[in-house]
Amino acid sequence: MHEFEILHKDLMGRIGKLRTAHGHVETPTIMPVINPNLISIEALEMKKYGAEMLITNAYIIYRKVDLREGAIKKGIHSLLGCEMPIMTDSGSYQLYEYKDVEVSNREILEFQQRIGSDVCVPLDIPTAPYEKRERAKNDLEETLRRMQEARSVIQNKMLAGVVQGSTFLDLRGESAKRAAEIGFDVYAIGGLVPLLESYKFDKLVDIIVASKMNLPLNAPVHLFGAGHPMLFPLAVALGCDLFDSAAYALYAKGKRYITSDGTKKVENLRVLPCSCPVCSSYSVEEVKESADLLASHNLWVTFEEMRMVKQSIAEGSLWELCERRCRAYPVLLNALKHITKYSALIEKYDPATKRPFFYLSECSAHRPEVLRYSYRLNRFTLSGNVLITTNLKEKGFSENEKFDHLFFVKPPFGPCPVELGESYPAGQSEIPAEIDNEAKTVALQNVLKLLEVNTGRAKFVFLYDGSWGGHPLVEEIRKYAEVRREE
Ligand code: GUN
Ligand code: ZN
Repeated sequence: MHEFEILHKDLMGRIGKLRTAHGHVETPTIMPVINPNLISIEALEMKKYGAEMLITNAYIIYRKVDLREGAIKKGIHSLLGCEMPIMTDSGSYQLYEYKDVEVSNREILEFQQRIGSDVCVPLDIPTAPYEKRERAKNDLEETLRRMQEARSVIQNKMLAGVVQGSTFLDLRGESAKRAAEIGFDVYAIGGLVPLLESYKFDKLVDIIVASKMNLPLNAPVHLFGAGHPMLFPLAVALGCDLFDSAAYALYAKGKRYITSDGTKKVENLRVLPCSCPVCSSYSVEEVKESADLLASHNLWVTFEEMRMVKQSIAEGSLWELCERRCRAYPVLLNALKHITKYSALIEKYDPATKRPFFYLSECSAHRPEVLRYSYRLNRFTLSGNVLITTNLKEKGFSENEKFDHLFFVKPPFGPCPVELGESYPAGQSEIPAEIDNEAKTVALQNVLKLLEVNTGRAKFVFLYDGSWGGHPLVEEIRKYAEVRREE
C-alpha cells in the first residue's frame, strides 16, 4: 500500500494524503513543534489552528527521566495529550548545536518505536555550511550508515530518511539517491537551519532541487526547520510537503509578530494588521505584553498561509502566490529568480492546462508555462504568406494583402495564431498594458524560433508598433522576415 497519495499538482507542488497509524494528514502541512519542557500552546489545542500532525523531540523526552518514563508507560500520544499523528525527531539538531548527544542511533530509534511515534527519525548528522567538503562527505557516510541501521531497527512504524550533504549539491544528490535506494516512508531535507537563519534562500532552492531530483516523486518530503510562512509558497512549489515550526514560539519569545511577508518587532506595532482570533479580540497593548498571545497569533498566520498555498495549488495559481510573496524581501525575490533557472525541470511536472496565466512581474516571463510554449513552437509547420504582428487588435492588418496565417505576438509567449486566440496558455494570459522588456525579449525570442523552424517554407512579414522599436531582437528578425513598422 502506498502511504502517500497525490491529489492535486501545481508546479512541483502537490496536495497529498499521507496515511499514518493515527489517521491521514493532508499535505502540504506544518507540524507544530511541541517541546515537552516548555509548552506554550498545548498539543490538544493545535487542532483548532488547523494542525493535522505534530512533531516533538524524542531526545528531549529520553534525556529527562520523568518524561522518559511517562512516555514509555503511556506512549507519546498520551504524554502529549493528543491523538493526532506525531513525528519524533531524534536529537540530531541538539547534536549539531551542542556537538554531543548521550544516546546512540539505535537507542533513540528503539525509544521512538517503543513510545509509539508515527514517523521515526534516525540520528542523522547535519553538517554546517562552512565545513569543508571532506567533512560533509564523512558526515554523510555516517548518516547513511545510521539510516541503514534504522531500516533494520524500525519494523512497524513509518521512518524518515534524512538528506544531508551541506551546501555541496552533488553530495545532496548522492545523499538523496542513496536514501531512496534504502527506501523510506518520508524523506526529510536536513542541515538547513544555518542557511535559513542567514536568509540564504537561493542556496536553499539549489539544495531542495538537488535533493528532489534524486528522491522518489511519490514520497512525501519534509523540509526540516523551515517554519516561517514566507517560505511556504516557494518550498511547496519545489515539491516540499511537510514543514515543522518552532518559529511560532521562538519568534514570540523574541517578541516578534509573524506575517505572511515577514516579521515585525512587536514594539513597533501601532495596530494589529491581522484578523485572527487573537488580533480581533485583544488590543495591541495586550499582545505586546503576552508571549502566549503572540505565539497564538504567529500560529494562526502560519496555518493561514499554508491554507493559501493549498488553495493556490488546487486552482493552479501557486506561481502567482510565489510572485506576490517574493516581493516582500529582496532575498526572496532573488530566490524566485533563481527558481526560474529550474523552469525546464519544473515544466516536466507542472500540469499542462490551468486557469488563466497572470503576468505579474518580469519573473513571469520565465515561468514553466512560457518555456513549454517555446518547446511547442516547432509544432507549427507553416507555408504561404504569414503575418506576425505585435498589434493585438488586428489594426494595421492590411485587408488587401493576402496572408495565409496570422499570428499575434502575445508577450511573454510570443507568436500566437489567431485561431488559438482564446486558448490556454497564450490566448488566455492576462498581461498589463505596459509590457516590460523581459516579456518582450522572451516573446521576440519565440518569434525567432518560429521563424527559424519554418525557414524556407513560408514567407513572413513581421509588423511591429512603436513600443517595440529599438529592441535588438527586431533587427535579428530582419534576417528571416520582411520587417515593417506600423505608423
Ligand atoms: N532539525 C533541524 N534540522 C535537522 C536535521 O538536519 N536533522 C534532524 N534530524 N532534525 C533537524
Ligand atoms: Zn493575528
